[in-house]
Amino acid sequence: MQIDLSDRTALVTGSTQGIGHAIAVGLARAGAWVAVNGRGAERVTEAVERVRTESGSDDVVPAVGDLATEEGAAAVVDAVPGVDILVNNLGIFGSAAPLEIDDAEWRRYFEVNVLSAIRLIRAYLPGMTDRGWGRVLNLASDSAVVIPAEMIH
Ligand SMILES: NC(=O)c1ccc[n+]([C@@H]2O[C@H](COP(=O)([O-])OP(=O)(O)OC[C@H]3O[C@@H](n4cnc5c(N)ncnc54)[C@H](OP(=O)(O)O)[C@@H]3O)[C@@H](O)[C@H]2O)c1
Repeated sequence: MQIDLSDRTALVTGSTQGIGHAIAVGLARAGAWVAVNGRGAERVTEAVERVRTESGSDDVVPAVGDLATEEGAAAVVDAVPGVDILVNNLGIFGSAAPLEIDDAEWRRYFEVNVLSAIRLIRAYLPGMTDRGWGRVLNLASDSAVVIPAEMIH
């Protein structure tokens, strides 16, 4: 299947490694202008270079910010004011005894796994609507359906 995204812009959250990185490479190969996100400038800069090399596209830019915070999300939106494709890939998971997860840890999971996506949807969806085209993809896990007791958060 030939996918042509040459007129599209995309932001992939949590794309310095793993699944997000692979998505960024795939979108860049399909011709999209792609913004790569992570928390630190150094890792993001390295990832931008890797996406460029692996995709053969120069249309790859950094979008540094910790999306678990309002300030970090604002920094990303400052760097990339609008996109056609938002991939909310960022998500964390870990193993813990369910009754020993404290409030701070529940809040951290909610900030990273839920609010990070909500903040960016609020920022980008109106532009997509105005332009008459847009895509938002929210990645989750089969652990949301088949829930391992040690990953209840
Ligand atoms: N891996 C699996 O087996 C699996 C299974 C099911 C679902 N998933 C889902 O797939 C998605 C990707 O998982 P993955 O395993 O590929 O992730 P990963 O390898 O752990 O990568 C996490 C990415 O998120 C970035 N990141 C972490 N905290 C951040 C924050 N607060 N703000 C911005 N960026 C942040 C990291 O960049 P820096 O460290 O550079 O900041 C890194 O690029 C997640 O939603 C996960 O729940 C994964």
